[in-house]
Amino acid sequence: MSPLEQFFRQFTQDSLIEASKGAEMATQDRAVWQQLIEQARAMHSAHEQLTGFCPFPDDLREQDVVPYRIAPADLLEGESGLFASGSAGLRDAFVAASPFATWRETYKDTDIGDDFMNRFGCYSLIGEGGAFQSAQMWAYVVYMPEGLHYPWHHHPGEEAYVVLGGEAEFFRHGEEPQVLREGGISVHGSNQPHAMTTKEHPVMAYVVWRNGFDVGPQLTENL
Ligand SMILES: [Fe+2]
Repeated sequence: MSPLEQFFRQFTQDSLIEASKGAEMATQDRAVWQQLIEQARAMHSAHEQLTGFCPFPDDLREQDVVPYRIAPADLLEGESGLFASGSAGLRDAFVAASPFATWRETYKDTDIGDDFMNRFGCYSLIGEGGAFQSAQMWAYVVYMPEGLHYPWHHHPGEEAYVVLGGEAEFFRHGEEPQVLREGGISVHGSNQPHAMTTKEHPVMAYVVWRNGFDVGPQLTENL
């Protein structure tokens, strides 16, 4: 065999090995995402108020996810304070999918500060950057460790947060604040400013948007 033939044979073998490793990883990822979407469907469908806000989509299709990791992923994966009972399956499935997720940096180019960027976590399950796409509803997980404030922000999309574990105080402009635990829901109208604070507990929430997908959240300058 000539050196050139040898090179091509080796090159082809290496490529095949790499491709099969990639396919194996992708299969593992899909199993994790499938587990997560089934947990989401079960919790969502059993939650009457949430289903009233937006039924679980019936047009889901898979899409590829490019993992992108940021500091809050480490915090979530090491978190032990997200007490939950009925929502524990979905909570744990969001943690299990964390290593494969595209973690979001929604407020990267704002003056929100390093502490928030290093501790506030969010990734998409359904919608842009998520493992599934839908024209009916987008879904995210939001995680905040204890002692963090998510400042007032707004977006055209109507939104519902359902707490999966831990506790947080939810603020909606023009309404009384409410402290929510597992199963508690906070619904935000189109462009209604809202904020959230954790005190001695962390929080995880399942967040859905039912419209307004093309415009992201913005910090609210003047209330
Ligand atoms: Fe929001």
